[in-house]
Amino acid sequence: MTSRTCLSVILAAGEGTRMKSAMPKVLHPVAGLPMVAHVVKAAEASGADAIALVVGHGADAMRKAAEKLAPEADIFVQEKRLGTAHAVLAARAAIARGHDDILVMYGDTPLIDADVLLTAREKLANGAAVVVIGFRTDRPTGYGRLIEKDGKLAAIREEKDCTDEERRITYCNSGIMAMAGNHALALLDAVGNANAKGEYYLTDIVEIARAKGLDVVATEASFENALGINNRAELAAAEAIWQARRRRAAMLDGVTLIAPETVFFSYDTEIGPDTLVEPNVVFGPGVKIGSNVTVRGFSHFEQADVADGCQVGPYARLRPGAKLQEDVHVGNFVEVKNTTVERGAKANHLAYLGDGRVGAGANIGAGTIFCNYDGYRKFFTDIGAGAFVGSNSSLVAPVAIGDRAYVASGSVITEDVPEDALAFGRARQKTIPGKGKELRERFADAAKNKRSG
Ligand code: UD1
Ligand code: CA
Repeated sequence: MTSRTCLSVILAAGEGTRMKSAMPKVLHPVAGLPMVAHVVKAAEASGADAIALVVGHGADAMRKAAEKLAPEADIFVQEKRLGTAHAVLAARAAIARGHDDILVMYGDTPLIDADVLLTAREKLANGAAVVVIGFRTDRPTGYGRLIEKDGKLAAIREEKDCTDEERRITYCNSGIMAMAGNHALALLDAVGNANAKGEYYLTDIVEIARAKGLDVVATEASFENALGINNRAELAAAEAIWQARRRRAAMLDGVTLIAPETVFFSYDTEIGPDTLVEPNVVFGPGVKIGSNVTVRGFSHFEQADVADGCQVGPYARLRPGAKLQEDVHVGNFVEVKNTTVERGAKANHLAYLGDGRVGAGANIGAGTIFCNYDGYRKFFTDIGAGAFVGSNSSLVAPVAIGDRAYVASGSVITEDVPEDALAFGRARQKTIPGKGKELRERFADAAKNKRSG
C-alpha cells in the first residue's frame, strides 16, 4: 500500500458567488484554516505524495494563496467551466506522470476524512479501476445517484438526468473518486457532454470503466465527506461540526472542558492532558498548551505557547509570541505579546507585557505597562529573575530591570535598574500634619457662604 504513489487532484475552481465575498470561496477558513487546506491535509494524511490544484480562470488570489498554503502543489487553471471531468483533465500533465493512484476531491469540502481516502486507495490496491465514495441521505436532491446492478456500481446519474424512479435513490455520490493511474486518462478522455447540463461529467467514468470490463466499486462513508460549502451559513455549519469533533477528541485525550460547546479550537491547537479549560475560551491558530494547565474563563489565545502547570485568566489575552514557561500565573486583564515569561513568574492583574522577558519568579504588579512603542518602533523590556515591579508602573522600553531589583509602585522607569537595587520613578510623598482639617473647614465655609448669599 505505502509503496504505491498517489496524486490528489483537488477541484477548487468553484466561483462561490453565494459567499458574497471578494475572497475565493475555498479560501474561507474553517477552524482558522482555509477550507481547501483542510482538503490538502486530508490528501496528505492519506499518503498523497503529489497535489494538483485546479483553479478557475483569472483566480490570481487563489494562485497566490495556494503558493503559501500548499507550496508543493502544482497549480492548473481550468480556463472554462465545462464540468468536473474537464476540470480534472486540466491537471492532465500531472496525471500523465504515471502515479499508481489518482484521488479526486473538491476544495469546498473541509470535513473530508483521510480514512475514507485511505479506504479508496486500498480498493485500488486490490484491483479496482474506479472507486466512488457514496453516502446515504434522506434528502438526496441535487446529488448524483449511485445506480447499482447486481450489487455492483453500474452508473452515477446526475439529478437532472435521472428518471423519476432513479431520483428516489438515496445512495449518493460524495464527489470523492479514486482512479487507477494506468486507466485514468483513457477514462477521462472518453467522457462526452451529451447530458442535461451539456457538461463533461466526471461521474460518467463509472459507465465507461464498466463497459471496458474494469472493476468499479462504491464504498459508503458519512455525509460530512460530501458537505460542500456554498454560503456562509453552510460555512458556520461546517465549523460547528468541526468544533464538536475537536472538543470530543480533546476530552478523550484527557482535557477537561466544563462547557465544551463554548470552547473554540483551531486546526492546529495542541493541548495536554489534565488541563482544565473553563467556559468561553478561544484558541486561535498556533497555540500550544501543556498539561496540568488551568485556563480560566473568557481567555483568548493566538500563536502562544503555555507550558505545564500554568494558570491563565480569567480574561487573559495571549497574543503572538507569548511564551509562558512552567508554573507561570497570568491573571485577569493581562495581555502578553512577544514576551517570554519565565518559570514561576506572576502577573496576576491588569498588565501589558509586550516585547520583553520576565525572569523566573519575578512579580509584576497590577497596572504594570511595558511602554514598548514610540509610534514608529518597538523596544524591548527585560525584567530580571526574582524582580518585583510595584503596581501601576510604566517601564519605558528599551529598559532593563536587574535580578531581584525592586521598582516602587507608580514609577515611570526610563533608565536601567541594576540588580538588587530599588528604583523610585515618582515624586516623593509629602505629608503636612493638620492640613487636611484646615482644608475641610475652608471648603465647608465656602459652601455655606454660597448658600446664604
Ligand atoms: C457533483 C457530482 C455529483 C455529486 C456532487 C457532490 C458531477 C458531474 N457531479 O455535482 O454526482 O453528487 O458533486 O457534491 O461530478 N468544478 C470545477 N470545474 C467545473 C465544474 C465543477 O472545478 O467545470 C468543481 C466545483 O468547483 C466543485 C466541484 O467541482 O468544487 C463540483 O462541481 P459542482 O458543479 O458543484 O457539481 P455538482 O453539480 O454539485
Ligand atoms: Ca456542488
